[in-house]
Amino acid sequence: MKVSVLGAGAIGSMLGGLIKHRAPETEMLFIGRGAHGRAMHERGCVQLQGPWGRCDVPVAYSEDTAEIAGSDIVLVTMKSQDTQAALEQASMHWGRAIVVSIQNGINDGTLLRFVAPDRLVMGMTATNISVVEPGVVSLQLNGVTVVGPSRDRVNIDASRSAARLLTRSGLPVREHPNVLGVLYSKLTFNAVGYASCLSQSNFITEGLCDPAWRTHVGLPLVRECIATLRRARISLAKIPGRPGIHGLRNLMHLLGAPLIGSLIATVARRNYNRRAIVFSLQQDLVRGKPTEIDHVNGQVVRLAESLAGQAPFNSAVVDMVHELERQGAGAFFSREQVIGRFRRLGQAAEHRKKAEP
Ligand SMILES: NC(=O)c1ccc[n+]([C@@H]2O[C@H](COP(=O)([O-])OP(=O)(O)OC[C@H]3O[C@@H](n4cnc5c(N)ncnc54)[C@H](OP(=O)(O)O)[C@@H]3O)[C@@H](O)[C@H]2O)c1
Repeated sequence: MKVSVLGAGAIGSMLGGLIKHRAPETEMLFIGRGAHGRAMHERGCVQLQGPWGRCDVPVAYSEDTAEIAGSDIVLVTMKSQDTQAALEQASMHWGRAIVVSIQNGINDGTLLRFVAPDRLVMGMTATNISVVEPGVVSLQLNGVTVVGPSRDRVNIDASRSAARLLTRSGLPVREHPNVLGVLYSKLTFNAVGYASCLSQSNFITEGLCDPAWRTHVGLPLVRECIATLRRARISLAKIPGRPGIHGLRNLMHLLGAPLIGSLIATVARRNYNRRAIVFSLQQDLVRGKPTEIDHVNGQVVRLAESLAGQAPFNSAVVDMVHELERQGAGAFFSREQVIGRFRRLGQAAEHRKKAEP
């Protein structure tokens, strides 16, 4: 079987590398670019780091998408904003391959312009993986990878094949009947978490556990995400072992309750002060790379607008991240600036509500 990874960065190199390691008969091709790609090309292998230690896995590497030809399965693992450009180059070569997206963001609309519905499989991963140096990827947090058929199930066979292939990585894989709900569950959690990245704050200790951040930033975002998805009739599906947006809302309410709230905050601070959740968006801002913000909070905004509504709090996150992108690597707001901006936004919304007849 020939498998190609289109966009072999952190996720693609780890999944493709583990599949090749555990099923060496697989013909594995990485399509990538940049320093990480060059290192894999020069060494003829990718180094995988994780609970197993280190292992060098030989892989074929190319920057020429024409080499995808003859693939049975193509794993699409670039950042969402690069999807359209990558597919414009690659899709003419992949014939009748099954195409599997493992990305954050809801990219099925873009992908369906290039892949027939019965061959497209949407998925997401709750792992945390990073390129620690060119040619080396590290599994920093294990988690489930989910794929599944679309609502009309025209791609049920392709979905089964994708799940079988990914299971060969040895990482936990689930086929889920509501993969869109799983994707949105991750997206909305990230949409709230990304607000903490605006000030490089620890999401748990300086975000959720801080009454001002929780009241003016966290809760309005959570409420807006839940209300928008409800209006769009998207039913969320929980990611096994991970909190969803409703769990996040309940936790925030508990944190605001007398006694129990301060008890939870004390425990959370003890556990997470030094062990912060590092969102990829924050890493991109530190490195001065374009972020996926238009595909996460931006997706909530588009969804609201498609229903003739608005999502002003998610819109603010999008605008503020773009402000930071324009300022260049390492630019962030202070926490007071973020809370101040959201507080004013909340007051304006209150004002509008009162003025309504
Ligand atoms: N890493 C994680 O822990 C994690 C966890 C869950 C979900 N995700 C999601 O998984 C997706 C992939 O994330 P990632 O962290 O693996 O990103 P990544 O490390 O940036 O990997 C993507 C790779 O694709 C390359 N690329 C982009 N366009 C290309 C093209 N046209 N041709 C060839 N290569 C191309 C990128 O090159 P450049 O660097 O030059 O752009 C990069 O090397 C994202 O949607 C992300 O949100 C990531």
